[in-house]
Amino acid sequence: MRLNRQFEQIVQSPTVAATDRILALKAAGRPIIALNAGDPDFTTPPEIIAAGVRALQAGWTHYVPSRGLPELRAAIAAQLAQLVDGSNGQKPPYDPQHEILVSHGGIHAYYLAMQSILNPGDEVLIPDPSWGTHANLVRQLRGTVRLVPALPEDGFLPRLTAWENALTPQTCAIVINYPANPTGAIPARAYLRDLLAFAQSHDLWVVSDEVYQNLYFEQKPLSVAAFPEFRERVVLLNSLSKTYAMTGWRVGYLAAPQALVDNALRASQNSITCVAPFVQQAAAFALSDPAMQIAAAGMHAAYARRRQLVLDIYNQYPVTPLKLTPPQGAFYFFLDLRALGLSSTEICERILDEAGVGLVPGTAFGRQGEGFVRMTIAASDADIAAGFRAILDWAQKAGRA
Ligand SMILES: Cc1ncc(COP(=O)(O)O)c(C=O)c1O
Repeated sequence: MRLNRQFEQIVQSPTVAATDRILALKAAGRPIIALNAGDPDFTTPPEIIAAGVRALQAGWTHYVPSRGLPELRAAIAAQLAQLVDGSNGQKPPYDPQHEILVSHGGIHAYYLAMQSILNPGDEVLIPDPSWGTHANLVRQLRGTVRLVPALPEDGFLPRLTAWENALTPQTCAIVINYPANPTGAIPARAYLRDLLAFAQSHDLWVVSDEVYQNLYFEQKPLSVAAFPEFRERVVLLNSLSKTYAMTGWRVGYLAAPQALVDNALRASQNSITCVAPFVQQAAAFALSDPAMQIAAAGMHAAYARRRQLVLDIYNQYPVTPLKLTPPQGAFYFFLDLRALGLSSTEICERILDEAGVGLVPGTAFGRQGEGFVRMTIAASDADIAAGFRAILDWAQKAGRA
């Protein structure tokens, strides 16, 4: 049978593979603490659920325009306005009529952005490590991925020389994601500005995946929207999944210059028609209701508390082969177990079998993740405490063996 050969280059998402294995063990009756998924353990705030139900009951059950409901695009534009330096939220940086498109979650916004940009054979620069979909989707669209090493000793931010070394005449875009999955890295203003200037000087698009924008622990991350001077080459994408615990609702957006949004609109019209209108109504409520910002801040505070819980437990193990760098944002720890001299996959399998904790191998995010494992703190305090202690106990034994 003839099939699309592009998929020969695309393996099953290792994050999904890890989840499948953990679920299979759980189904077989093994007590497993799952610290693998990037899905908030919180349920969506009840008021947002009520807004969705109200919309269903009010008849929002038909097709709506592919661009997205005006009230949702206005709410998105208002949130984006807060990100522009010195604007005090006065001037919307993106025109909700022409420069914003509602999508089926952040992953779909990324898909639409890349579909809008790429021609076959175009090259895209992506840091290694990164969320696997960033590279996989480029391959799926017949683009070529050039991975740019983001070394642990550089705080997982590629050096400017590394970006430059990866350039070829075919390069058309770079993809960034800060706060980063899986490392939690957040660049300083100067780094981001230099990177945008680099993109400008080589006429590249900058696709910025900001789904963790609201999840940070110390320094507030800067959005690419903070640099209006570069906006003509920037595609910003975000979603409500992580901030409002709405992963299953599947709603997000992209913001970009009109020409790109025009392409994305045609791509969306010819694939999904529209995001479910009752979901869009709930999303508009989530973004604009003041109490929902307080609810989101409450979840954010819980992640900060859990991050501290991990750091406190770590301090109780003064001698351990596990090295830990506190994440600056997102909700993961990228645990460094390179001292054990084992592969990430081996470490994950052994921790699952011998300590009963489900994690994701660092190599799921690229070669630079070898020797690392990703542990989520989007789980209950009790699971995080018990799971992290079990990992540390296991590492101590493995280090002595
Ligand atoms: C970096 C990154 N981007 C996008 C997504 C997808 O988010 P959404 O649920 O909005 O599609 C994820 C999910 O884990 C992610 O980690």
